[in-house]
Order: sequence, then C-alpha cells, then structure tokens
Amino acid sequence: MTLALNDKYIKPFIDEKALASMQSEVSAAHRVLMEGTGEGSDFLGWVRLPETYDKEEYARVKKAAAKIQKSCDVFIVIGIGGSYLGSRAVIEFLKSPMYNNLKKDTPDIYFSGCNISAQSMNELLSICEGKDVCINVISKSGTTTEPAVAFRIFRALLEKKYGVEGARERIFVTTDKARGTLKKFADEAGYETFVVPDDVGGRFSVLTSVGLLPIAVSGVDTDALMQGAADAAAAFMATDDMEKNTCLKYAALRNLMYRQGKCTEILVSYESYATMLNEWWKQLYGESEGKDGKGIFPASVIFSTDLHSLGQYIQDGQRNLFETVIAVKNPDSKFAVPFDDANVDGLNFLAGVDMNDVNDKAMKGTILAHVDGGTPNILLELADKSAYTLGYLLYFFEFACGVSGYMLGVNPFNQPGVEAYKKNMFALLGKPGYEEAKAALEARLK
Ligand code: PA5
Repeated sequence: MTLALNDKYIKPFIDEKALASMQSEVSAAHRVLMEGTGEGSDFLGWVRLPETYDKEEYARVKKAAAKIQKSCDVFIVIGIGGSYLGSRAVIEFLKSPMYNNLKKDTPDIYFSGCNISAQSMNELLSICEGKDVCINVISKSGTTTEPAVAFRIFRALLEKKYGVEGARERIFVTTDKARGTLKKFADEAGYETFVVPDDVGGRFSVLTSVGLLPIAVSGVDTDALMQGAADAAAAFMATDDMEKNTCLKYAALRNLMYRQGKCTEILVSYESYATMLNEWWKQLYGESEGKDGKGIFPASVIFSTDLHSLGQYIQDGQRNLFETVIAVKNPDSKFAVPFDDANVDGLNFLAGVDMNDVNDKAMKGTILAHVDGGTPNILLELADKSAYTLGYLLYFFEFACGVSGYMLGVNPFNQPGVEAYKKNMFALLGKPGYEEAKAALEARLK
C-alpha cells in the first residue's frame, strides 16, 4: 500500500462510538467537496486536477524546464506562500535539502520573494555573480509585494547581464491566465507564461505549473508525481466510508482530537528532507482552517533534533497536542554504524546496524513515550520515498484538508486573514491611499 494510516497509537484516546458517529459528518463533507456545493466551491479545481490537468501546458512546462536546465547555473524561483512552498517541499523531499550542494547536471535552485530581507537579497545576488541565471516569478494575483520586489531586482539583473532580448529568454512567469499586473507586464515584455488555474488557490497549486516548473527543473520525475496524485484522487473519491478511506479517517480523527481539546497538531518526521514538506503542510492547514475563531494550530518538528528541544513540551507540557507522524517504510539511503576497536563510547552493540533501523527504534520509542505522556499519535506509513508516493501524499493532505475544513464548519478555500498585515504594511510604508490608516497606526506605535 502506498500510504497506510496506523491508528494504534491514537486508539487509547478515542471513544470508538464517538468516532463512528462522525461517519455521517464525514460523508456529508465528502459529498460537498466532490459535488462542489460548499463554501469556496469556486476553488475546487485541484480536486480533479491530477486527471484533468492541461496536457498541453504540462508539455510546455517540461520543455521550458529542459531549456532552463541547459541555459543556467542558478535558477531563482520567486514567490511566497502557496507560490513556492510546494515546489520547495517536493525538491527537498525527493532530491535533498542539500540539493544545491549535490553533484548534479541540473541548476542550483534558490527561492526568493518569500521574505523582505535585504541580507537574503544581497547573499543571493552575490551567489549569482559570474553565473548564468534564469528566473521563474510565480504569483497568482500578480500583485503580492514580496515577490514583486524580488522580481523587480532580478529582472534588472538579467537585463543588465543579457540585455532586454537576452533576459526575455530567461524569465518565466506563472500567473493568472488573463488578469493582473504581472500577466499584463509579461505579455507586453514577451515572457513565456504559465497558468495558475482560476479555480486553484495558491496552497493547493503544487501540482499545477506553479509547482511543476521548478520541480521539473530539479530533475524530479513529474509524471510519477502526477500519477501518484491521480491514483490518490481515484482512491479518495471512490468511497465515503472512513474505514475504507484513509484520507477521510485522517480528517475525522483530527476533528475528533480538536473536539477533545487537542487544538495543536504536530506533523512529525524523522528525516530532515521533510522540513519543507512540513512547512507546505502548515500553510495548507493553517490557511484553510484557521478562521472564524476556529482551527487546529498546525506545528511541525523534525526528530531526533527536535526531541532535544520541543520533545520536553510534547512529552510533558500542556496536554492540548496530538502528533501525526510520517514514516517511510523502505528508505533508499542506508548507512551502517561502524565498529570501533576501542569502543570508548560503548556503541559497539550498534556496530553494523543500519542507521535507518536506529531511527526506526527512535521513532517507535518516542511514539510510545509520547502516548504514555498523553499525546495521541496518528502514524502515516509511506511505502517508499518515490515521486509517485509523494504525489499520493500531497493529494492525501489536500483532500483531507478540504474534508476536514468542511467538518470544522469553515470555508477551507479562502484566506481573508492574510490581508490584515498587508494593509498595515502598506499604510506604514506610505502607499498612496493609506494616509489615514498610516496616522492611526503610527500613533499606536509611539
Ligand atoms: O494559498 C494562498 O492562496 C496564498 O498563500 C498565496 O499563495 C500567497 O499569498 C501568494 O499569493 P500570490 O500567488 O497571489 O502572489
């Protein structure tokens, strides 16, 4: 099985009858999502996307990726939130968090426009010195400040280095098919553009050109990724019985936890390659469910390292947590602990043991300890670490998020809360039209 949900370590915390009684809610949420009859139904394009995606656009993505691979040493992906987290998560999971340090025949990939740090910008510009560079600016709205600032800087860099004509061959734009400043600008400048479908929100866009162009540049097998997602979609749409549908079971379990006061979910991995997958997941669930005064707070850890920081809290702190652990059953990288004649550290009992086995025992020991400490654990077991399995997992989380959000009683597909900081930032920066707000905010800051 590509992905299995092991509920053994959450069972002690569950009243089976309470869980079973959620089946009707699960069925209703499943139906609303499939039929597009709930709030936010304009943004359900991702549900059937792994089957119905635009094959012509997909072919263009692959062609552009091959062109980028040939023509640069450094590929800069400019975007924020859903416009970069998915591709970064996939590249780090399947290639490596140290992708740029690997020996490889694909360009180094850096992400920009996801902060407003002068230091990061200066560092990235110095990395680009003497290198051939291509960029992909990604913004559905085409108006988000952080990527717009970065795009302005890198466009100028490319035009200075290659001239306006040369830069045109190196700038790739992913945005709305017709609307927005970026689309208008790209068309006028003659950049190749890719589409963020109207009905797919940023955090659900990893399997559109938003994610696929950078992912393809890194050399990941995008066909396998899409096939994994397609098979997941077929499986999770086929039945609303949560005992036969792991995705619905996950949605039900996390809502049950929430109702029992477990209002923080921690996504756990024992591999640092999952760090950005955790970040992608946090955005997916945080933006989808955290509204109307409701929602599970999505947090994440990478063990063992975080066992020596947050481990104390998870074991022993406020009992408002549950964990969802991702484990890969057949890791593709192995390393045996070496034998040492002197055995000063007393570790020869581990000599010859694969580090994956040590990691597995750390995971099992931790799960049991956390359960004993009062933290329920959901265990998601992946068959392997392939592009296919990751595609399956991405879709699993997306579909579960839609169902879970509807069970929570929110619109999982908007993000009204993201606007508040933007308004204040624009006012404080003196953007025309924000004069009154500026004075009010400045008075509060005195
Ligand atoms: O999930 C979302 O919709 C957001 O996180 C957006 O992806 C993010 O705000 C960036 O927006 P845009 O792509 O319009 O620049």
